[in-house]
Amino acid sequence: MTAAERIEELRRQIRYHEERYYVLSDPEIADAEFDALMKELERLESENPDLVTDDSPTRRVGGRVAAGFDTVEHAQPMLSLDNAYSDDELRAFDERVRKGLSAEGQPVETVAYVAELKIDGVSMALTYDHGALVRAATRGDGVRGEDVTFNVRTIRAVPLRLKESVPGRLEVRGEVYFPRKAFERINKEREETGEPLFANPRNAAAGTLRNLDPALVAKRGLSAFFYQLLPGVGADLQVGPAAHGETLERLRAWGLPVERHWRRCVGIEELLAFCGEWDQKRRSLEFDTDGVVVKVDDLRQRALLGTTSKFPRWATAFKFPAEQKTTLLKRIAVNVGRTGAVTPFAELEPVTLAGTTVSMATLHNADDIARKDVREGDWVLVEKAGDVIPRVIGPVLSRRSPDAVPWQMPATCPQCGSALHRPEGEVVWRCENTSCPAKLQRGLEHFASRSAMNIEGLGESLIAQLLDAGLVKDYADVYGLTTEKLAGLTSTSVRTDGREIQRRFGDKNAAKVVAEIERSRSNELWRVIFGLGIRHIGERAAQVLARAFGSMDVLMAATVEQLQSTHEIGPVLAESLRSWLDEPRNRALVERLRAAGVRMEVPEAERAAAALPGPLAGKTYVLTGTLTSMSREQATAALERLGAKVSGSVSKKTTAVVVGAEAGSKAEKARELGVPTLDETALLALLNPES
Ligand code: IVH
Repeated sequence: MTAAERIEELRRQIRYHEERYYVLSDPEIADAEFDALMKELERLESENPDLVTDDSPTRRVGGRVAAGFDTVEHAQPMLSLDNAYSDDELRAFDERVRKGLSAEGQPVETVAYVAELKIDGVSMALTYDHGALVRAATRGDGVRGEDVTFNVRTIRAVPLRLKESVPGRLEVRGEVYFPRKAFERINKEREETGEPLFANPRNAAAGTLRNLDPALVAKRGLSAFFYQLLPGVGADLQVGPAAHGETLERLRAWGLPVERHWRRCVGIEELLAFCGEWDQKRRSLEFDTDGVVVKVDDLRQRALLGTTSKFPRWATAFKFPAEQKTTLLKRIAVNVGRTGAVTPFAELEPVTLAGTTVSMATLHNADDIARKDVREGDWVLVEKAGDVIPRVIGPVLSRRSPDAVPWQMPATCPQCGSALHRPEGEVVWRCENTSCPAKLQRGLEHFASRSAMNIEGLGESLIAQLLDAGLVKDYADVYGLTTEKLAGLTSTSVRTDGREIQRRFGDKNAAKVVAEIERSRSNELWRVIFGLGIRHIGERAAQVLARAFGSMDVLMAATVEQLQSTHEIGPVLAESLRSWLDEPRNRALVERLRAAGVRMEVPEAERAAAALPGPLAGKTYVLTGTLTSMSREQATAALERLGAKVSGSVSKKTTAVVVGAEAGSKAEKARELGVPTLDETALLALLNPES
């Protein structure tokens, strides 16, 4: 067997086992055997680099995301769904469908629907070209989404190649989500390192997809389900499906993951039975679902019903009622965050809600407490919708004690005793003492957290110890810690589930943490920027800034205008960053970190790779209308190869708009803004300067 044949054989086997494992949840071989196949393929590919193809299973993580994600226009808008919150509202939906069909001259007694579980994730549109995955885009505003191909390629449930090579291009849509176990694992890790928890799997999935580091995305364990084949785009198919159920079967046959509990329901009673059944059973699933999506099965009937500007008339989302319970609110306590924000929360008599024991609930802010008139000692109604942290809905007034008094925000910080302030026009109270120990504690937890400097072992309890012992007074002091200083510290911390964790620092543990600290000195620049905990500068903004500016020095010298002209950095972020950098204390901190050996620039090699200095670098084009010599995607790819950016919308910053046949509003907008336009001949000249 030649190397090429063996490579093909290995890819075939790996694709098969990936489907068994990630799509069907029914593996046939042990993980170690799978790893062995993968290793062999990796070895053969590294020995034969000319045989590497983009759809090889070894290439899930590859390439790089440019300074930000490009905006892409959807072939057809990605609509949202109308909701039904009760059986009656679902009955009303069925009636509207039947009336609509009658009005179109197609009366029916009972409508056949497909009921699917509603996946609590992020909508995703995948484009396959001749069976190969070429693009993945988020929903965005429905018209334009973000190109997240690099990240979606890392999701093992998403095939890089369809099982049958389908001629031409097609688009499938569905949902990228966090399986419950992966979500719990991540939040557990975050809890242990003191990072803020993701409120729900959907937020976690959205945040992960927007991360600029595909290798990190690959580790998080996202998964996906698909449920839609774009009508029209799949026109290359010889016979398109006639019913939604057939679409689902076809997607499945191509190797795409389809949630398997869908059911064809004839008439409203069968639908209601399905909804009732899954309201009971949903906690047995390995993913979160917040309802059932009900869709007319017959695609001709769908076409007759059509859509409104926002929703299809042939589908609705039946939402499961959120679980609610009453319990005693023992105390309203406040928490001081990293930015000094003081947020109230309810300490509750523990109660079981949606399968977990709940002893705390958010109360948002003081205004919210006053509006709801929630008081200490009240019986309150608590709800757990899709979120990890439950919320207090309101008091049960009939059970209120006559002694209950309205709650007031404490006048002083519970941690440092300084007066609390509420800035003009804001709802949030703050402790403005820059050296408040609570802020420093939270700030250090953030600095050391997995998504920032990633210093394993330096979590909440150790930080509390270090602060108590006076060993650390700011982030830079972390780099002065030695095994001797750490060894011997002991700490106890109580987790939110009430369990106590004892940590003792023996020499071994101390040495581990010191090694982690040492390692973190050479972290990527974005981790440092994010770790500083500047207001509004999240993980992604930090990545964008690091890519765009390349070093802390260049960033520190940037004006608000320069910051703001960075793709994705808006005025709020730019102002916040500039004012943080202007504070002498903060500049001193950066210098102390630098002196401690923390890396303050993007390595040269990476910078060169990210910059891709093609002849059109720094230029942005918009394509509109139909081109005759190539598709828009081909034109986009050709422009990008030369270093240009291709955007979905025209602005003053656009270099030129390429106008094809039957161009619409974008050509007009270009004229309005005085942006030059290019016809197809000019585009070809731009792409092939020699010809
Ligand atoms: S069908 C034309 N099916 O829910 C609309 N959507 O609340 C096509 N969702 O934007 C959507 N599970 O992101 C459909 N089985 C399912 C779904 C589902 C989750 C999401 C989807 C949609 C949102 C609307």
